[in-house]
Amino acid sequence: MTKHTILTGDRPTGRLHIGHYIGSLQNRVALQNSGEYNNFIMIADTQALTDNARNPEKIRNSLMEVALDYLAVGIDPAKSTILVQSGVPALTELTMYYLDLVTVSRLNRNPTVKTEIKQKAFGESVPAGFLIYPVSQAADITAFKADTVPVGDDQEPMLEQTREIVRTFNRTYNQAVLVEPEGYFPPKGQGRLPGIDGNAKMSKSLNNGIYLADSADVVRQKIMSMYTDPNHIHVEDPGQVEGNMVFTYLDIFDSDKAKVAELKAQYQHGGLGDVKIKRYLNEVMDGILTPIRERRETYAKDMGQVAQILIDGTAKANSVANQTLAEVRDAIGFNYFK
Ligand code: TRP
Repeated sequence: MTKHTILTGDRPTGRLHIGHYIGSLQNRVALQNSGEYNNFIMIADTQALTDNARNPEKIRNSLMEVALDYLAVGIDPAKSTILVQSGVPALTELTMYYLDLVTVSRLNRNPTVKTEIKQKAFGESVPAGFLIYPVSQAADITAFKADTVPVGDDQEPMLEQTREIVRTFNRTYNQAVLVEPEGYFPPKGQGRLPGIDGNAKMSKSLNNGIYLADSADVVRQKIMSMYTDPNHIHVEDPGQVEGNMVFTYLDIFDSDKAKVAELKAQYQHGGLGDVKIKRYLNEVMDGILTPIRERRETYAKDMGQVAQILIDGTAKANSVANQTLAEVRDAIGFNYFK
């Protein structure tokens, strides 16, 4: 039987946080370790440039950090190919061909891009490259003929748009060259981890994230400053667990569900203090983050090796993507020089 293929990735605009971990990294590692997939994981520097054209150093500085985060969570270069998007020119050429199969009005309707355009306050100055990045994402996915894309919930519209492009391409050129991908998402309710301040989104600009590279001390301080129940002033007071970030995090990260239920009951009844529940959450997070931190430190001692992992991964990615590009050019009939 032929193996399934995964292509996934992240924009390198900063280090990865525990929201990324729960939203997709954990799934990617599990799928990798199942042994049933060819895995490609891409550092999407070209996509990151679409809204950072005048600030490329931010991307350059994040690239190795994201590589370290991948290795730290257990992406294993012996089992997965880690590649750098800008090192695979076939992706840009495929993007150009796919752009001819997509309308501007369809691009304007992509809900994730719409939200981002609002958040980024571009006004009338939306970079064309930013508007079309879902098409370049379709190139990323299809270049590797990926059928599985483990990502966060916000990426569903990209997959929808990719499937449309695949169908349109195969129909237009009358050949089943491209493969339709499926998303692989976290369990319901775990799609988006709120920030430690209770804001729905964990992000660098809000300074409300816990990063995979944070030291144990920093993580403890962040957990101690977490948003709980502002009306829970005295230990004896009954407390709210809904909207209380400590319990939100415990629900997601603690595998001991019985213990969480017991703590919730006690907290709601009164008699359980915030410091206690925060200390407990810190223990749970430490159990998850310590092995990640240790692997990160080991790899960080040899950045030459990390660079080599990216060079080798990108070389392998080029041989796969160039093959698909050749098939695409053949299907279009752009094969004059063969
Ligand atoms: N859009 C993704 C993000 O915002 C990054 C990305 C680029 C990606 N190309 C991809 C994800 C292909 C999955 C598949 O982080």
